[in-house]
Amino acid sequence: MNKYLKIDPWCIMEEGFDGNRHRSSESIFSIGNGKMGQRANFEEQYSGSSLQGSYVAGIYYPDKTKVGWWKNGYPEYFAKVLNAPNFIGINFTLDNEPLDLAKCKVTSFRRVLNMKEGTLNRDFIAVLPSGLRVKVSVMRFLSLASPETGAIRYCITPVNRNAEVKVSPYLDGNVVNEDANWNEVFWTQLDHEASGHGGYLIARTLKTEFDVACGMHNRILVDGNECRDKPSHHSRDGYVELSYALSLKKESQLEIIKTIAVLSSLNHEKKDLPGDTKKVLKSAVQLGFVPMLKAHREIWAGIWEHSDIVIEGDDEAQQGIRFNIFHLNQTYRGDDPRLNIGPKGFTGEKYGGSTYWDTEAFCIPFFLCTAPASVTRNLLLYRYKHLEKAIENALKLGYKNGAALYPMVTMNGEECHNEWEITFEEIHRNGAIAFAIHNYTRHTGDHKYLIEYGLEVLIAISRFWSQRVNWSGEKMKYVILGVTGPNEYENNVNNNWYTNTLATWALQYTLETIDLAKQVDPAGYKKLAEKINFNDMEEPARWKDIIAKMYLPYLESEGVFLQQDGYMDKEQITVDQLDSKQRPLNQKWSWDRILRSCFIKQADVLQGIYLFEDRYDTETISRNFDFYESRTVHESSLSPCVHVVLAAKLKKTEMAYRLYLRTSRLDIDDYNNEVHEGLHITSMAGTYMAIIEGFAGKRVKEGRLVLNPQLPSNWESFAFKILFRGSQLKAEVNNRKVIITNESSVSVEINIYNHDYAIPGNSSVEIMRN
Ligand code: BGC
Repeated sequence: MNKYLKIDPWCIMEEGFDGNRHRSSESIFSIGNGKMGQRANFEEQYSGSSLQGSYVAGIYYPDKTKVGWWKNGYPEYFAKVLNAPNFIGINFTLDNEPLDLAKCKVTSFRRVLNMKEGTLNRDFIAVLPSGLRVKVSVMRFLSLASPETGAIRYCITPVNRNAEVKVSPYLDGNVVNEDANWNEVFWTQLDHEASGHGGYLIARTLKTEFDVACGMHNRILVDGNECRDKPSHHSRDGYVELSYALSLKKESQLEIIKTIAVLSSLNHEKKDLPGDTKKVLKSAVQLGFVPMLKAHREIWAGIWEHSDIVIEGDDEAQQGIRFNIFHLNQTYRGDDPRLNIGPKGFTGEKYGGSTYWDTEAFCIPFFLCTAPASVTRNLLLYRYKHLEKAIENALKLGYKNGAALYPMVTMNGEECHNEWEITFEEIHRNGAIAFAIHNYTRHTGDHKYLIEYGLEVLIAISRFWSQRVNWSGEKMKYVILGVTGPNEYENNVNNNWYTNTLATWALQYTLETIDLAKQVDPAGYKKLAEKINFNDMEEPARWKDIIAKMYLPYLESEGVFLQQDGYMDKEQITVDQLDSKQRPLNQKWSWDRILRSCFIKQADVLQGIYLFEDRYDTETISRNFDFYESRTVHESSLSPCVHVVLAAKLKKTEMAYRLYLRTSRLDIDDYNNEVHEGLHITSMAGTYMAIIEGFAGKRVKEGRLVLNPQLPSNWESFAFKILFRGSQLKAEVNNRKVIITNESSVSVEINIYNHDYAIPGNSSVEIMRN
């Protein structure tokens, strides 16, 4: 844990400069707009430790796999989220010395991420080795209003004497990935040009051949007056720099406004990129910094209007949840079904790929409540579009007849994960994709998607489960052997309760959807059955048999579902007996020791109970919760949120609150000592789940929204909004009552504390709390 940031409800704030924290701050203060994003690298040169990172959505590199022992079925590559050309750079030389904070005495340093408005700000005073003292103030943003553009305003003032200043804004395509497997360069440079106050360059990824074009335009003002001096131009392959030389009087302010455009061949014809880049840049420049910023702030205001959670009485919790909501919205805007949400978003390189089961299991519940249904639909369509690749993936592993195994990690539908115990065994991901279709359908009521697209995915997934199980003559049950559950601290286990449960649920849900499709769209169903060669006599019969005879391990002595076969052969120690110096286990213990221990990395049986809560009575949930919570080390960021939801359901509010703080402030307070690698973007959605499904008790049952709000003892109140089937509801919860306001014109039925209410459009109900 490393707690150095100020608590504030709307800002993340760092005061005082410490180079040892710089990499962590670069992650935490990252900005993005769904189309691109970047770590909070300094604009000016910095010779201290830094992870340079700018990323363009959907642009990746298939880095050649590096493994010790090749196994058949491994993918050839691991897709890397690609460090893209650096477009923020502005170097300064003052009296022939570089402005480099690693070499200056820095005072009054303040870095602020303004989450309300989506800007990154930095103010400081630096004393250069020569004794020159400068005051600096910087603001930058990546526009949400025009997501191929961004702008930087950099102001610098010599405060103790006149200075000769050289300002050099640049674009640099010669960038590398720190995590490149073979130290290869991933880009080739295609074109560059410097002219007037601007320039552009185009770089192409090797192998995948994506083109990325960056353009810049610069304005220089001295004390508010436009400087007409022409810059000198320096360019070479992959690099364009302009240089302005000025004599600055003491107390005079030099302001540089660098406007940038970043376009890619994902959205433009390659041949049009130079022209389109200039066009996009020109219109941003014509608009100007202040109007650009205004438009950007307005979009943020709209986002907060739908997605904010207001907590009164607890600024730490407030800052935590806003930080998470902010980063999720910076990472994914939901307007492009080719994009997805990487575990690190645009904040670091680790994990590669863009899509894990994280999206379906954790992010979808967030987007369902806070964004129009089309956003989640695009996330589902992303998987629909990858169905063919998922079928190919399964085929490579020996499955047939249209069975699909979705990849553990992917960019374009192909598997690119290559650790056998995960790639081949962490197959529960297939179930999460089926569950997401169900989650979307029950929240939005959009059965059309289910029938037109969802069903095809469900059948392919069910075909996989049907072939993945085998019949145990000894148990007289179907079993699923050799898997890794969500708990990655055990591999190659038999009959992971979660996986077996999810598989049977997916089969059942597919059967129900087939029945529905036959009723509501018989012609569409027939067409689909023909397309995928589906025999609805034979295949469903086997599925029903599997559902009826699936083996689900159970531990009689404790009355709990058993994690997997053999779990109780392990020495049973609870987490409270672990010395805190031994944690996190994955940094302190050998892998051998981890595998032999009973400690659980992340919610596993409890993940299943969370998904299928209605099947179990409170006593059962409670027994399982107590048993597994005491053995779970939560060393996956995805873990605590599920425990919060269940703890809240069991009215263990204070425990839920402790786990909530951990999940919501995981990155701000760096609980796992790894924030320098990037943020845990997907688990941020879990934080939202923790409040909405935990403290607010949100569920959807029989087409109706259900809330059961409770208040952690140190919160005076909390308020949030939910988009539900065309309505927007605002819920306010305090010690005495719950007020639900229907802010839309669509009337809605809602169940609160087990009572039904019909709330017409533009009206509200007040309910006294139990
Ligand atoms: C977790 C996985 C998750 C991945 C990416 C791992 O540490 O165990 O469940 O999919 O991180 O977030």
